[in-house]
Amino acid sequence: MADASRAFVAGHPIAHSRSPLIHGTWLIRHGIDGSYTALDVPAEEFRALTVELRSGRWVGGNVTIPHKETAYQLVDRRDAAAEAIGAVNTLWLEDGLLVGGNTDAYGFAANLDQRLAGWRSGETALVLGAGGASRAIIHALFEAGFSHVDLVNRTVERAERIAARFGDRVTARGWDAADRLVGAADLVVNTTPLGMKGQPPLALDFASARADAMATDIVYVPLETPFLRRAAEAGLKTCDGLGMLLHQAVPGFARWFGCVPEVDEELRDIVIADMAG
Ligand code: ATR
Repeated sequence: MADASRAFVAGHPIAHSRSPLIHGTWLIRHGIDGSYTALDVPAEEFRALTVELRSGRWVGGNVTIPHKETAYQLVDRRDAAAEAIGAVNTLWLEDGLLVGGNTDAYGFAANLDQRLAGWRSGETALVLGAGGASRAIIHALFEAGFSHVDLVNRTVERAERIAARFGDRVTARGWDAADRLVGAADLVVNTTPLGMKGQPPLALDFASARADAMATDIVYVPLETPFLRRAAEAGLKTCDGLGMLLHQAVPGFARWFGCVPEVDEELRDIVIADMAG
């Protein structure tokens, strides 16, 4: 196999990454003679991987925790999304330069485009959580035409730091403001790990929610989190987080292997079966 058809996902730990399953499914589907390998790369070894990349040993790769900010620092050039988000999750070579992109915002928006009709007509979003995923999602919301984000976080200082990146379009608040802010939101987004298998549920009161409000989660194990269940019971249209994971993989695959793969029910079912097993 030619070197140029090898891609990877690098992280630490990496054993539970679903990316090899997603890309492996697409490689088979499209009959591409390439590979996509999980690499367990501790923080101190990440720089060596970028040297390998520049040497042409790999066509590119994904990076995940704990390398997204380091990758942002080490690349020669970044795409606009990576620049805005401050983190890189996809690497490729272009004219001999190592380029870093961020596909999380794309993945968030593409998932909702596919499964939550009408979400782009929203103006105000309530975003819960202020980690790396939150930055990508806020970027996606403004790209989609939202005009304001209420950002709620347990540690309000972290929310304030993100708000400072986006100017007065983002208002940072402590968690105690969340229930009240639901009433102003067209879209409510959970970006915290709350509700994930083994984590406490996210408790949010949807009593004041608007009739046409919608909700989505980045958690996808389980697919229906307590947060989404309560939102649905209150009459909100909801969308689970699995599609964000699937769609964020699309731009990397397209760059490395030269064809745009499909996110469809069959792929969802393959990943859901893997999560269950
Ligand atoms: P990421 O990996 O996305 O960069 P993270 O450090 O895992 O971010 O944190 C994700 C978000 O979940 C943060 O907003 C975090 O709140 P803090 O900034 O206060 O730590 C939030 N989070 C995690 N566990 C939480 C909990 N038990 N209650 C409330 N928020 C929580």
